[in-house]
Amino acid sequence: MVGLMTADSELTAARVAVVGSGYVGTVVAAGLAHVGHQVVAVERDRAKLDGLRSGSAMIYEPGLEELMAGAMAAGSLSFTADMAEAMAGADVMFICVGTPASEAGDPDMTAMVGVAESIAQHLDRPLVVVTKSTVPVGSGRWLASVLEEASVDPARTRSLVGVVSNPEFLREGTAVFDFLSPDRVVIGSDDPAALEAVAAVYEPIVSGTFPPTAVAGLSRAGGRRVPLVRTDLVTAEMAKYASNAFLATKISFINEIAKLCQLIGADVTEVANTMGLDPRIGSEFLGAGLGWGGSCFGKDVAALIMTAEEYGLNPRILHAATSVNVEQRRLVVDQLLHELKTLRGARVAILGLAFKPGTDDLRDSPAVDLAQRLVERGAFVSAHDPVVDALPDLPAVRMARDPYAAAAGADAVVIATHWEEFISIDLPRLRQATRGDVFMDARNGFSPRAVAGAGFRYFGIGRSDRVGPAAGIGRSAPGPAPAQSGSAR
Ligand code: UDX
Repeated sequence: MVGLMTADSELTAARVAVVGSGYVGTVVAAGLAHVGHQVVAVERDRAKLDGLRSGSAMIYEPGLEELMAGAMAAGSLSFTADMAEAMAGADVMFICVGTPASEAGDPDMTAMVGVAESIAQHLDRPLVVVTKSTVPVGSGRWLASVLEEASVDPARTRSLVGVVSNPEFLREGTAVFDFLSPDRVVIGSDDPAALEAVAAVYEPIVSGTFPPTAVAGLSRAGGRRVPLVRTDLVTAEMAKYASNAFLATKISFINEIAKLCQLIGADVTEVANTMGLDPRIGSEFLGAGLGWGGSCFGKDVAALIMTAEEYGLNPRILHAATSVNVEQRRLVVDQLLHELKTLRGARVAILGLAFKPGTDDLRDSPAVDLAQRLVERGAFVSAHDPVVDALPDLPAVRMARDPYAAAAGADAVVIATHWEEFISIDLPRLRQATRGDVFMDARNGFSPRAVAGAGFRYFGIGRSDRVGPAAGIGRSAPGPAPAQSGSAR
């Protein structure tokens, strides 16, 4: 590893290869280059490779292209399709290829096997291999075996390769921030030297000694040290699954409470705010609504369930968290059916399609699932999303250029993804566009009074009964006349 002086300290620049330039790999590659390492990222898809080389992140991730641009201009980041080229100069290789859930629910390791075989084929010097992708618990040892099985000289491979688990905790939409300013860095290995090599790669991030970036909040004043957890392979892998499964369970918990709130007339958002004041609970991930989606929670919870069952355990809580989550999507359809009396021929406008705000990712998006269910029930569905402009797999949905065009002639409007852009929607104008008055706030992001004040009947998830202009039923907190535009709770 070559030495690289920085303003604050002697930084040992590692020579890093990152395999897979998707959501995780591109952030890891650009992030490690930014903090001072020499990074070669491998992407075998030629179209994506061309895009990356021209500076496009090929995904929507705030701040990523700026990070790439700086690193590429500094000569510390490059992209290639050639594994041998990437390995030639690498001391540490991060594997960031996809491990999507197969039909059965277990992670598809095909891409990992391909990378392992390619590593074995080109291995000619010591290499630390880091699994960044979310892999089933115990995969680190599996990967070592695959590497040896693919080698002409397994003993030599065993002597040259150290396997490390370094699970990612990146959230889409804030991945650059999460990588450069993480809550913790977890490094697991049964090979102490390999573990320390990866710890050295993370030192600039752990110590906060890297140049601030354009993405707000990254210049961490005071250089608070980030907790670095050193542990064994299996523990590091389990820590990732347990973290995601807990977050998913926390969301399903509040969604269960929301159902009860709906029945007894409480407001789950106020219940959640009150709960969150207890530091043992915390206010994050207590947002009731359509529930969780994305490429991680569903996959990781399903994988953990499969692992538990392999060991003869019945993961009752994880099963419950999953079934509550699926139920949330049905619940919104049922509420619309109740209010519109029939969905066949009904016009429903869905605002928000990405699985969460801040991303263009549609993987397991609750909003898209909802659109699918409505189309299957014969409804005419229109939709608008600030970033997603097409639903290739759902051509029946009419995509609109803005929320008001989506709402034109609609019997009901559903807020399915709580984009910041929607909070400033002109509710009276939206109401004038619609045919009906149902406003289904499936992410509890609006003020019921403001929505009712615009002439809608408000429906939230666990936010007491609807609030209608005529009926005046449900909670109507005393106070000033409702604001004339949407406002968050
Ligand atoms: C998640 C984990 O947060 C991250 O640590 C891990 O590395 C990858 O998986 P991500 O899937 O990008 O990140 O999104 P996240 O912000 O966790 O949201 C996941 C889903 O939960 C989204 O569909 C979101 O809408 C939903 N959600 C989140 C809720 O329904 N309620 C909440 O209060 C928070």
